[in-house]
Amino acid sequence: MSSSNLTSLSSIEAHTLSEARATLLAWYDDHKRDLPWRDIQNPWATWVSEIMLQQTRVSSVLDYFDRFMTRFPTPHALAEAEWDEVAGYWAGLGYYRRAKNLWRGAREVVERHAGEIPDDPEAVRALTGVGAYTAGAILSIAFGQPAPIVDGNVARVFARLYRIEEEIESAPSQRALWSLAEAWAQGERPGDLNQALMELGATICMPKSPTCLICPLHTRCRVALEADPTALPRKRKKRRALPRESYVVFALRSLEDTPRYWVTKRLGEGLLGGLLALPQRAREPNEAREGTPPDASELAEAWMSWLDDTLGSTSPTYATLRECTWTLEVLERAVEHRFTHKRWVWWVTQVSGAALTELLEALSAHDVGRLMSAAELDQAGLGGPSLKSLRALGAPLRARRGSGT
Ligand code: ADE
Repeated sequence: MSSSNLTSLSSIEAHTLSEARATLLAWYDDHKRDLPWRDIQNPWATWVSEIMLQQTRVSSVLDYFDRFMTRFPTPHALAEAEWDEVAGYWAGLGYYRRAKNLWRGAREVVERHAGEIPDDPEAVRALTGVGAYTAGAILSIAFGQPAPIVDGNVARVFARLYRIEEEIESAPSQRALWSLAEAWAQGERPGDLNQALMELGATICMPKSPTCLICPLHTRCRVALEADPTALPRKRKKRRALPRESYVVFALRSLEDTPRYWVTKRLGEGLLGGLLALPQRAREPNEAREGTPPDASELAEAWMSWLDDTLGSTSPTYATLRECTWTLEVLERAVEHRFTHKRWVWWVTQVSGAALTELLEALSAHDVGRLMSAAELDQAGLGGPSLKSLRALGAPLRARRGSGT
């Protein structure tokens, strides 16, 4: 699409929009699905439901939501729970990092806001796991503020309604989508309006089989009347498959208030040579398990092999540390890093255990790396995959241009 079309989207006429908004809200009132998190002005319920709904179908969320809210009816209840119990209530929903971030976010609400979810946009955005989408949902649905939401459904509705032909993931398209969402949210009932846009995407303006004839916005849609709606939104072309190398990567995070992370320097030659990196072990190439996380025994073996090589039997604590019980928690999704000729797939594993502090001391004595805070790492030469890995674990590192995909 020409950039002029994107530019013209920013000047949607107010009266056209206000009519379209009224039409959509009327449709929503008649057709919305009856979902347990709807029609309750409870920011905690909104937060929990919207996190559960990310990457997950409504039908899968239904059972989980009620059980979770019964056990953790407030941020305070979740903040007080042990992680293992929280994980149990999430088991089967997938993408556990969502749950962990929600748990951390709930603790922040207790610490910073006396257990009350704030209605100030900046304070909401500052909570762990709350990005632009979730913040928009909490602010609009629970607090009635005119805050925008763009998720996959809204992006599809807008791409068709306004005929956005540029790749939908591109920066100009994203800017256009968010500014459209902003414009749509200015009016009465912004929370319902946002939900109506999502509902339209989920039930009418579907990816492969849109039912345009019964769409309330049909006559306003720049695509439905004259082109094939399923051609939009245009997705980025799949990149050619690069050979991949898989690694198990160990994140050793100190238990201080401001945690530090154990990093080593890569050898001067080779990819990202000289940069700081998380410790790692190459996985044996194995077609059958391509794309699947290492299981407990593979993790334990890799960990012991790394300990042996790094600490070495000359360390006075070697035998003790080797015998300790370690918890190896691997992220469900690998961190990927592309080079021009290959890609690295990193299975990031958080290491914990009662002897963690002792281990970090022993490692320091060996001078094979050092502990660095997020602030120090921001200044240092941390390689792209390590940066992404630590960010995936929630370390507050700045995003960096040029750190790969
Ligand atoms: N998808 C995610 N959140 C939603 C909501 N609140 N309404 C409709 N669809 C959604």
